[in-house]
Amino acid sequence: MKIKKIRLVNFRNYARAELLPDARMTVLTGRNAQGKTNVLEALHLCCLGRSHRTPHDRDLIRWGEDAAFVSVEVLHRDGTHDVSVTLSRADRRRKVVRVGGAQVARIGELMGHVNAVLFAPEDLSIVKGGPAERRRFIDMELSQLRPAYFYALQRYVRALNQRNNLLREMLRSPAARATLDAWDEQLALAGAQIVRHRREYVQALREAACACHRDIAGADEALDIAYVTQLRAGDGLAQDMLRLLHEAREQDMRRAVTSVGPHRDDLRLTVAGREARVFGSQGQQRTVALSLKLAELSVVERERGEAPILLLDDVMSELDPRRRQQLIERIDGVQTIVTCTDLSDLAGARQGAVYRVEAGTLRREA
Ligand SMILES: Nc1ncnc2c1ncn2[C@@H]1O[C@H](COP(=O)(O)OP(=O)(O)OP(=O)(O)O)[C@@H](O)[C@H]1O
Ligand SMILES: [Mg+2]
Repeated sequence: MKIKKIRLVNFRNYARAELLPDARMTVLTGRNAQGKTNVLEALHLCCLGRSHRTPHDRDLIRWGEDAAFVSVEVLHRDGTHDVSVTLSRADRRRKVVRVGGAQVARIGELMGHVNAVLFAPEDLSIVKGGPAERRRFIDMELSQLRPAYFYALQRYVRALNQRNNLLREMLRSPAARATLDAWDEQLALAGAQIVRHRREYVQALREAACACHRDIAGADEALDIAYVTQLRAGDGLAQDMLRLLHEAREQDMRRAVTSVGPHRDDLRLTVAGREARVFGSQGQQRTVALSLKLAELSVVERERGEAPILLLDDVMSELDPRRRQQLIERIDGVQTIVTCTDLSDLAGARQGAVYRVEAGTLRREA
């Protein structure tokens, strides 16, 4: 997959801008707060229909303007796809997504047309942060990879909210209990699908990440990854989830919150047998984060048969020369868009195109 063109209109601090990325590496360089990350954010919007930085679409519209527009022209093995997103301030729910010129009815239909892996310094929180950060990491990539997962996640979140609302209502009127069974069933069905996809994905991720980690850190600091869930291994996941919901029911009714299910699951990351979140040094945690991102790249490539694009937001300056070298070697052949404030951070990397970013303008320099 290669991106041929990105066009921004009234997106963040850009009035109008166009980027023609190189087939290999494109560098966006400029001082702080000029609009480098904004370009990556626009691409992310075309991958997943949302920003990686804000849940509020209106934040993306240029101040003082009514609508923002982003389009991406992407070349797949089977031809060119055009993807565009229009956001309007007047109606917050109005997000128009077009694929090949035709408006899609559901955001899920966007998934997979433009596939990207984004790596930014904040990704260290996948290792250092709480379980929610790790679930988000899995959800973002799996949603792009498999629309069925994205839809299951939507159904799950909806059922979870409904069940929690019902639990609160039951505190006041116990008769509301009558519909609890129905929500449990919906939750169990969607939850089982989520856990099944996540287990498969984590298994693939584990192999790739462990190999990367071994190359970077050496064999005596082995990384391990496990998906942590209360659901039992094997088939009958939905039955099992239903059993957990029933067992937790009394407690859930007292606390008016759903205490079991994939919304509480986690990814366990260990280095040499110890939890990286708690015992890892800064450097070890960075290596784990880098290994996870590189693993994501190779899992997507294997599943889809073509590499996604890689977006590197200011990560080079954070890596020591050895890790930087590993990264550069591994992304050879992958279309990459990288931001930096200082071009010397990219010494040793082959730079196809260089754009100077200044106050919401893009100027090609090389
Ligand atoms: N909706 C908006 N309309 C206009 N300008 C905006 C909007 N949202 C953000 N900005 C501006 O965009 C700029 C930030 O852009 P961006 O995050 O891309 O910077 P950057 O070049 O990546 O900087 P850094 O090197 O610090 O990461 C800020 O100056 C901010 O004020
Ligand atoms: Mg930035």
